[in-house]
Amino acid sequence: MSATLTIRRPDDWHLHLRDGAMLAAVLPESARHFARAIIMPNLVPPVTTGAQAAAYRDRIRAALPEGARFEPLMTLYLTEETDPDDVASAARTGLVKAVKLYPAGATTNSASGVRDFERIRAVLERMAEIGLPLCVHGEVTDPDIDIFDREAVFIDRVLDPLRRATPGLRVVMEHVTTSQAVDYVTSADRDLAATITVHHLVINRNHILAGGIRPHYYCLPVAKRETHRRALVAAATGGDARFFLGTDSAPHLDAAKESACGCAGCFTAPIAVPLLAEIFEREGALDRLEAFASLNGPAFYGLPTNEDRLTLTRAPTPVTFPAKIETAHGPVTVFDPGFPVHWHAS
Ligand code: DOR
Ligand code: ZN
Repeated sequence: MSATLTIRRPDDWHLHLRDGAMLAAVLPESARHFARAIIMPNLVPPVTTGAQAAAYRDRIRAALPEGARFEPLMTLYLTEETDPDDVASAARTGLVKAVKLYPAGATTNSASGVRDFERIRAVLERMAEIGLPLCVHGEVTDPDIDIFDREAVFIDRVLDPLRRATPGLRVVMEHVTTSQAVDYVTSADRDLAATITVHHLVINRNHILAGGIRPHYYCLPVAKRETHRRALVAAATGGDARFFLGTDSAPHLDAAKESACGCAGCFTAPIAVPLLAEIFEREGALDRLEAFASLNGPAFYGLPTNEDRLTLTRAPTPVTFPAKIETAHGPVTVFDPGFPVHWHAS
């Protein structure tokens, strides 16, 4: 079968671009297919103020390849010291589109995140007032909670109480990995949405652990069992506008992944859109790809949809993608879905 599909150019509602040499190497991969992306602030040190977000946005713009059109949508990293006035003024000028909540210790570079949720009350209330979304890394950090249960427990212990205490707060549950998260989002009557990554639509926990440990499939939240992956596929392809694409493409050098204590993150940017088309095709849901990748996100964030279009073409034989990209500090492995992808995007 050969087919083409033209959709509004997709956006990535959750992306790690890093900084310096890594930024220069990975940015072209996202700019090739995506018009805009919500840029994660977990740099070292994190992007915690409006001034830092403006400087980071300028570094991203400066790293763009000649002629590329790509708009970074900046976020602030929420700490217990975040100033509500700084958040409000960064939102007012349009610089910042969301604030990111990392529970302290939940994931890569989250040490400056939140321990005591009472201490962010004033910021959350101000965000509810001005309609600025909170992007949430939804995992508890309690070492007594099994890593595969940390998302579901977070919903009950943290997220639901936090939303009840802050009416009107608009929340994006980032990179959901469980049927409990899907059910929680669909059961909410307002102000709640979720991003889903491409890799969580592809892998379950067997991919990481069966037949040898595969560090390039290790990310956080960690992939769960197959029933949860199926729930994510159903949510992404089902047409519910509360679910949209956030790749969480998270590059780490191979040396940092292939280590006795490997970093969390799947680098999917070069393959994300073609792979998403393959997944939607397998589900008989190509007619819903545009909603998930290009329409639902802007609708939640209150931003215009892209006027520019992207054409996806199905090739009769599998398309090859680079296995790695090179950076000035070494290679970064590109996510391998483990099955052929026939789509390319232009
Ligand atoms: O796998 C992940 N990698 N999950 C995160 O939450 C952070 C990210 C990163 O920054 O590497
Ligand atoms: Zn992330």
